Amino acid sequence: MLDSIKSHIGGDCRVIGVLGYPVQHSLSPAMHNAAIQALSLPLVYVPFEVNPEYLATALEGLSALNAMGANLTIPHKEAAVSLMDELAPMAKRIGSVNTVVFEGGKKIGHSTDGIGFLAPLRERRFQLKGAHCVLIGAGGAARAIVYALAEAGTNVVIINRTCARAERLAAEVNRFRPGIAKHLEWGDGLPVEAACRSCDLVVNATSLGMAPHDKEVVWDLPMRSLLPTAIVYDLVYRPAKTRLMEIAEERGCETINGLKMLVHQGAESFRIWTGLTPPVAVMERAALEQLRSSEV
Ligand SMILES: NC(=O)c1ccc[n+]([C@@H]2O[C@H](COP(=O)([O-])OP(=O)(O)OC[C@H]3O[C@@H](n4cnc5c(N)ncnc54)[C@H](OP(=O)(O)O)[C@@H]3O)[C@@H](O)[C@H]2O)c1
Repeated sequence: MLDSIKSHIGGDCRVIGVLGYPVQHSLSPAMHNAAIQALSLPLVYVPFEVNPEYLATALEGLSALNAMGANLTIPHKEAAVSLMDELAPMAKRIGSVNTVVFEGGKKIGHSTDGIGFLAPLRERRFQLKGAHCVLIGAGGAARAIVYALAEAGTNVVIINRTCARAERLAAEVNRFRPGIAKHLEWGDGLPVEAACRSCDLVVNATSLGMAPHDKEVVWDLPMRSLLPTAIVYDLVYRPAKTRLMEIAEERGCETINGLKMLVHQGAESFRIWTGLTPPVAVMERAALEQLRSSEV
């Protein structure tokens, strides 16, 4: 891999960076460099650990270095919004940037999380319009998801540990698509059970179930009332099969982990930077290999 990357570093080579803090566990370099290699592009994708106080400087630096673009990951996605010269509509709506294009001295911010989230559901031909979703979480990822679902016409019930955040998010989304979102208290026994019993999709957009705390996770939401026809989609991908997915599979439900979302949000970023059709299968294989090698 390193040799083939080196062979791309000629005078016309441009950089794409991923800025995070920390960043060393990111699967994005493996995924994007595999795509760059597959298409023989004069690009290189590099991880940069950027302390939040240097985010503005880092973005200015990349722009000055004529970098092609950047991905932003935790904790930079929200902070980057005010540093952009222009925002794509979805990034503006959700207040989050995960993809930056450097063009003509300007920084243009996009968010591909929603598109990445929907891709595996679309692959399964899941009927989004009119479906009912229970969304657990109200953080950055949940924001991107609830707007993507609302835009596709899916009704969403948001449940979050801190109920006030779920309430605020539902109210905000209802201003975008009136009546599409509700919220419930995590401990609201019967209403939560009724929402779970009648939903077509459950999404975990919290860090619950993520390694290294995956063994001790307790799911006290009534997942055993799910219909076997419901899809359970966990944004977590370390471990590959989370406790939530195990419980759902015991109910007979189909499950999806977060790797496909990661790959598809990356593929969309790649399309935005290069204007080319991303080699999604190549990217997915590289991400999976990197994930497996980081687990041994
Ligand atoms: N697969 C992908 O491509 C992808 C993309 C983005 C994110 N993710 C994953 O999605 C998850 C959320 O990321 P984020 O960016 O939204 O983070 P975030 O903005 O920090 O939000 C964290 C969310 O998790 C909840 N939470 C945290 N610890 C909890 C606990 N012990 N019990 C119940 N709820 C808890 C928080 O609830 P409170 O509001 O009560 O704090 C909040 O809703 C992470 O696991 C992240 O790795 C995956």
